[in-house]
Amino acid sequence: MNPTADFVPGLQGVVAAQTRLSSVDGLAGELIIAGFPLEELALNATFEETVYLLWNDALPTASQLADFRASLAAYRAIPPQTIDLLRAAAEQKLDVMDALRMAASTITLRSADEPQHDQRDSLALVARFPTIIAAYWRLLQRQEPVAPRMDLSHATNYLYMLTGEEPSAERTRGLETYLNTVTDHGLNASTFTARVIISTGSDMVSAITGAIGSLKGPLHGGAPGPALDMVFEIGEAANTEPVLRQKLESGERLMGFGHRVYKVRDPRADVLAQAAERMYKADGDMQLYNLAKHVEQTAVRLLEAYKPGRNLQTNVEFYTALLLHGLDLPTDLFSPTFAISRVAGWIAHCEEQRAVGRIIRPESIYMGEKNRRWQPINQR
Ligand code: ACO
Repeated sequence: MNPTADFVPGLQGVVAAQTRLSSVDGLAGELIIAGFPLEELALNATFEETVYLLWNDALPTASQLADFRASLAAYRAIPPQTIDLLRAAAEQKLDVMDALRMAASTITLRSADEPQHDQRDSLALVARFPTIIAAYWRLLQRQEPVAPRMDLSHATNYLYMLTGEEPSAERTRGLETYLNTVTDHGLNASTFTARVIISTGSDMVSAITGAIGSLKGPLHGGAPGPALDMVFEIGEAANTEPVLRQKLESGERLMGFGHRVYKVRDPRADVLAQAAERMYKADGDMQLYNLAKHVEQTAVRLLEAYKPGRNLQTNVEFYTALLLHGLDLPTDLFSPTFAISRVAGWIAHCEEQRAVGRIIRPESIYMGEKNRRWQPINQR
């Protein structure tokens, strides 16, 4: 290895890709997605427009959007083999992210009349994540899956497949704001994972399956469930400070706070806080919303007291939890719903990485022993 290379724990500050997909400015608290400030995109776009933008670097015209929506919708249905696999997973009550990882792999099962190319796999991945997750969730509840509808938007259809009922326009808008907000975010761990896999010349489904595994971890996409559990555990405003102090004193991390890149408030937290407030005001539990706001303010104050100078601020997961709970999604579906959005960003990054055409292959520093001598097994 190059003896002058420094070991950078967690690769913090290391630049490993060039991208046109998103720009994360952790000091200014600014997120740009394909040229648009987050606030502009999150509040205006449908999710299909956001996916089109990421994949084509331009907003679609009305007819391009109609075509794109139709081609995505055409891939929504999942084959019986995938449903059988989900049934087996539900028997064992596997975690939803594990079931998603298993079922995503089956996207390489193509029927004879389907095109055998990557564009088909990319469309099928985005189109089928909601179907897989909703079907699996219903099987876990001992209910039969609800077949996808081709006439509904991506977000509406997901909520429809979970309950069998069409959601209100506010709910669809709340979900769409969320999906737009988390679809891409620089070289986060799961995106990096996908880029590493595709850089070897591997295929899209393999790259996305690996990315699901990376997103699942609690230090990445697995935090919103625990963030909401923490608000419920606190229960009422008066308990906030003692509960949070006790957690910090026992060395626990407060879920929904801190970020590798953002040293100010995560801009996604603001967009999602506004969307959550609108939804809760329209039809939700304002007491819970107000408690969450109080927990957030107290947590930020206490984190500064217990971890001075670390700049631990609210991250995207905190208001994700509140928004998705307001949509009646159970906590077990929070990370999978994140994946429904992020898969579009993963695919766009994979295409960028392919164009680079170079394998990602960093180095390691050997810390072990040298000059060991072989001992026959009976002498060990
Ligand atoms: N609560 C309490 N202390 C914290 C927290 C937290 N949420 N986050 C960081 N710290 C402390 C660490 O204990 C450490 O303190 P020390 O130096 O005294 O030991 C210091 O702050 C720095 O922490 P690192 O782990 O080095 O920070 P890193 O940049 O590696 O981690 C991370 C970022 C993983 C997000 C971290 O802040 C964390 O664990 N947060 C809670 C989990 C969470 O909310 N995850 C979702 C992140 S958003 C996303 O990925 C989409």
